[in-house]
Amino acid sequence: MSNKLLITGAAGKLGRLVLDELLTTRKVAPSSVIAVSRDPAKLATYAKRGVVTRRGDFDDPASLDAAFAGADTVLIISTDALGVPGKRLKQHQAAVAAAKKAGAKRIAYTSMPNPENSAVTFAPDHLGTEQAIKASGVAYTIFRNGWYMENLFMSVPQALKTGQWYTATGQGRIAHAARADIAAAIAGALVGDTSGNATYTLTGPKALTTDEIAALVRAATGKPLAVVHVGDEQLAAGMKAAGVPEMFIPTLVSFDANTRLGHISMATSDIERLSGRKPMSLQTFLAGAEQALAA
Ligand SMILES: NC(=O)c1ccc[n+]([C@@H]2O[C@H](COP(=O)([O-])OP(=O)(O)OC[C@H]3O[C@@H](n4cnc5c(N)ncnc54)[C@H](OP(=O)(O)O)[C@@H]3O)[C@@H](O)[C@H]2O)c1
Repeated sequence: MSNKLLITGAAGKLGRLVLDELLTTRKVAPSSVIAVSRDPAKLATYAKRGVVTRRGDFDDPASLDAAFAGADTVLIISTDALGVPGKRLKQHQAAVAAAKKAGAKRIAYTSMPNPENSAVTFAPDHLGTEQAIKASGVAYTIFRNGWYMENLFMSVPQALKTGQWYTATGQGRIAHAARADIAAAIAGALVGDTSGNATYTLTGPKALTTDEIAALVRAATGKPLAVVHVGDEQLAAGMKAAGVPEMFIPTLVSFDANTRLGHISMATSDIERLSGRKPMSLQTFLAGAEQALAA
């Protein structure tokens, strides 16, 4: 049976890793993979390997008819359009409608953990997309991606410069996962037994508090790093004073609140189950990230 696998957002960081896993680890024939991007020129190296590359933009739903033609499985990678409320859900709804119209037999989607019970400002985008997929009647595989270990590069280097890590996470926990492990799990599921509907929560192996993560950072870098526990308002004020653009502050604060409330504390074995390999520990990740942490 044909299983043409289509990946949207293929030129993004996760998209490329999924393509690499499909082609290299899973040995999928390049001609069975359709990589869609707003700018297919960015996919030239994949086109050279025989991957079918096409232009598709969720903001231009008409572009998706040609982009999705002939796809059996459509992996919709969630977009990064967080600036305009409601925009991302509209984009994803357009992608779901286009996948159904193209006759896809399966829709896969990169969601987030626990979207129905989350303090994260953009959780409704993910929940709404999951609902749209379920309402489409097409079989589905939902990947609720936990927070990437790489997200720590957005906060830890600055904290190391001052020696102080301000957080409103309290004693809440996160089981960060390496982006590459999430990609490996997604690729494994895309080529695996695809009967029925499934929802996976892709996390790292162990849920840690910010104090525990800071201890690992100190061990990896040899630098001092004190965790300063504050409330949401104090965190927001500190971000404003540090020059963080105001439009991002509510979302950043909502991450910490969500963690503190225990909404992202789960650690599952879904990555290992789908990828067939043990996910990287945060300790190993940090040990190999000295340069990025020093940035
Ligand atoms: N779990 C986490 O910790 C975490 C962290 C950050 C982000 N995310 C989410 O996971 C997604 C993938 O992560 P990433 O690391 O690969 O981020 P990234 O490199 O910033 O990729 C952003 C993706 O959004 C796609 N995109 C943006 N606008 C689009 C549009 N109008 N139509 C179709 N696609 C569009 C891009 O596709 P092209 O450029 O190829 O068109 C690209 O794949 C992000 O977009 C975000 O929704 C999750």
